[in-house]
Amino acid sequence: ERIAVAYSGGLDTSVIVKWFQETRNADVITVTGDLGQTKEIVGVKEKALATGALCAYVIDLKEVFATQFIFSALKAGALYEHTYPMATALGRPLLAQTLIEIALEENCTAIAHGCTGKGNDQVRFEVAAAALAPSIKVIAPLREWEFKSREEEIAYCHKHNIPVQATKSNPYSIDENMWGTSIECGILEDPTVPPPEDAYQRTVSPANAPLDPAIVKINFHEGIPVALNNKSVSSAELIMTLNEMGGKNGIGRIDLIENRVIGIKSREIYEAPAAVILHFAHIELERLTLDKETMRKKQKVSIDYADIIYNGTWFSPLRHALDAFINETQKVVNGASENSLYDTKLATYTNEDSFDHNASEGFIKIFSLPYKTFYSVNKRQLPK
Ligand code: ARG
Ligand code: SIN
Repeated sequence: ERIAVAYSGGLDTSVIVKWFQETRNADVITVTGDLGQTKEIVGVKEKALATGALCAYVIDLKEVFATQFIFSALKAGALYEHTYPMATALGRPLLAQTLIEIALEENCTAIAHGCTGKGNDQVRFEVAAAALAPSIKVIAPLREWEFKSREEEIAYCHKHNIPVQATKSNPYSIDENMWGTSIECGILEDPTVPPPEDAYQRTVSPANAPLDPAIVKINFHEGIPVALNNKSVSSAELIMTLNEMGGKNGIGRIDLIENRVIGIKSREIYEAPAAVILHFAHIELERLTLDKETMRKKQKVSIDYADIIYNGTWFSPLRHALDAFINETQKVVNGASENSLYDTKLATYTNEDSFDHNASEGFIKIFSLPYKTFYSVNKRQLPK
């Protein structure tokens, strides 16, 4: 039996590699996607091989992640429950897709992931797998194995000489990539407690940020950021530069009570400096460049698009259809003034004014007609 495992190098996935060998005598192939995470990727291949993997893939997905996943979400204005930029949620379909590609090449009969049975990530992984490779079996060891706590997993690691980093001094569960960091567990599970400073990984507290503002010009082309201060950079580089700038300036901390797919409310801490900056800049540019009705419709589409990403239905006909709508709207979302719909001659209250004030009178007459009619017909039934 050959199993391809989505491997982060963390505690759960390290235990999985050994556990498959022990309980199923399986050949394990690990697959790690580099989505621009700063910490986990170093030494991950060596660790996988030392833990008993037959071979270990580490695949650079940074540009694909930025251009095909992150920027689609950015163009859509997709913030889950109006708040969470979805670093974790956006990474899962790409990781699942990559895992499946390698599993097929390597003639694996199953794929496995390290998601828990009460989270969103299992859903995202398995919906993607069902859509892309229905014949491949998916195994979720955390839903079925004997370990009941992290302590038991750590003990298992010690027994099998698997190096572990999780200690009592790092009580958090952290998932990270270039679009943000998701932090859970420990004291954070009590939503009445403000997050301790040590929960944060990549931002300074706004209280400790410099008073002088950092200023950056972001150039957009068709809804996508393409340059910083007029200098073209790769998409991944652009995001990582903004993470640094924002992090130093106390931007991007989010403390959210959210609704999980499986119905649980959970308290999540996020740090997403680049995502917060880019969503803000993108919306401001849309205010200038989109006409009113398109903007209204797009705000509604944003909510649906965010739910699609969060719920793990990335590989779905609806997402493709919404992309077609969104891409059409983005043709004018350019960071150059020729697409700005702001017209000073219409807006001004000075004598440069070109707006026809008298036309308002007829407009208001017709615009108010339904209300005038309704209120006069129903007058006696209305409360005083
Ligand atoms: N609640 C967030 C989400 O659903 C973060 C999940 C973090 N996942 C993890 N494996 N640590 O996207
Ligand atoms: C997990 O199950 O791996 C973390 C929680 C989540 O998916 O939301």
